[in-house]
Amino acid sequence: MSRCNIFILMIIIPLAFFQSVRGKDCVCDLKNSDPAFPEQKLTKVETISAQCIGSITSERMTDLDRLLLGLQQRIKQLEDNVLMLEKEDDRNLYGAVSVRIIELEFAEIQDLLNKLNMTTNDYHHLNVQTVAQLEDMKDTMAELEKFDNMLVIKKDRENQRVKRDLEQCKNELKVTLPPPTVPPGRCGLGQMVSVVGPRTYSITVYSTSYPYGAWGRDAKPAPGDENKYWLVVLTSSNVYGYYVRQYSTLSTLLLGIGPKDTYISSSNPTTNTIQGSNMVMYANALYYNCYYTYSVCQFNLTTRAVSTVALPSDTGYNSKFPFAHLGTTYSYTDLDFATDESGVYVIYATTSNFGNVVISKIETSNPPVLGQTWKTSLYKTTATNTFMVCGVLYATRYLDKETEQIFYSYDTKTKEERFDLKINIKKMQTNIEFLNYDPRDHLLYVYSDAYILTYEIIFQ
Ligand SMILES: *[C@@H]1O[C@H](CO)[C@@H](O)[C@H](O)[C@H]1NC(C)=O
Ligand SMILES: *[C@@H]1O[C@H](CO)[C@@H](O)[C@H](O)[C@H]1NC(C)=O
Repeated sequence: MSRCNIFILMIIIPLAFFQSVRGKDCVCDLKNSDPAFPEQKLTKVETISAQCIGSITSERMTDLDRLLLGLQQRIKQLEDNVLMLEKEDDRNLYGAVSVRIIELEFAEIQDLLNKLNMTTNDYHHLNVQTVAQLEDMKDTMAELEKFDNMLVIKKDRENQRVKRDLEQCKNELKVTLPPPTVPPGRCGLGQMVSVVGPRTYSITVYSTSYPYGAWGRDAKPAPGDENKYWLVVLTSSNVYGYYVRQYSTLSTLLLGIGPKDTYISSSNPTTNTIQGSNMVMYANALYYNCYYTYSVCQFNLTTRAVSTVALPSDTGYNSKFPFAHLGTTYSYTDLDFATDESGVYVIYATTSNFGNVVISKIETSNPPVLGQTWKTSLYKTTATNTFMVCGVLYATRYLDKETEQIFYSYDTKTKEERFDLKINIKKMQTNIEFLNYDPRDHLLYVYSDAYILTYEIIFQ
């Protein structure tokens, strides 16, 4: 609006007046001493500048940052692995296997590098284009300023500067307000659209001896423990476990090098034995179903102390409400544990909720405490496992030997329940005995008939 006024001013004002007398009439000759204002040029500059702003968004810069960060970590990990294997591999025992693993990791890093190269090429292109456009705009603006006899643009610029200062002041004021917290269910990940993989697929050092087990990473590791992996197998009758095995990296886990075992008790089963395969590790403590009871056990790996908290007394345990499908019942899977961005949850079923799934948040204090609880209408024995992402519970069912399907979700924020999800997981073995989500790498960790696997979750 104000720009229209400027044009009018600039066209009318810079005129020279010539007066002459022809007979009786007084005539004014108007001669424009300046060239006409090139309005089209200004419009063009405006269009180009809008395009520039549109093509350099912070979102695209973040993509690049994320890719770079991922690459940095992978390369560092690869270096560590090579170092470690050089140290361990003095008897030439692991040579062939380790080279293969490093080859795989190397291929993945090459893949990332190519992606990065592609992205950087895009940015380079964008950059060259933008610089040219900016130069062009600068020239045009300089040209246009020549028309600014009335100093309108200068004044306008001054105005804008004052406005900007004012905005900045306002923003500085805003900064002192507390940052918005991300509610569960809204981690900014977007909607889950598919599960791809397996990304990792391997047998453990125990070979096929133990079809029931669990593995993964600590969802909230202590500094320095970020790359550690844990593995627990149920060594007696597919029901009980009594020690936690830890490895310093994924490669050492896959090769079985340098495990550290921490025992809960010296034999099986006894008080505080691990019952069932659905456990998680959080802040260096293992959360699991305590032996022969409806309690949650918290095993502190530093102190080896166990603290417990009881679930409601009508909670199913000892295979009353296990995970199952028509062909199989997964014995002693009454209690399932899950980690997500907001912490630890226990998933179980109670008689008062008709055998349907109940979710309780576990406050990971010492001793642990049951937090908020949600009742769902998912009948527990129709599901084969569950996991949580961003405060949303997902459940799987058995389709056939090759496919498990995520078919159900419950949002703890909105209490919205859905039974119409159809996200398939491609299986390598028939049964999934353990399934959990790692909020740090957004991977699903799976223990499937003695094999350990990871899958990548794709968000929209
Ligand atoms: C990056 O991409 C360019 C153009 O596609 C190609 O010429 C170059 O070799 C690539 N560099 C690497 C390191 O892959
Ligand atoms: C485990 O023990 C350590 C050492 O006493 C303590 O700092 C930590 O908070 C404990 N963890 C839990 C979950 O209680």
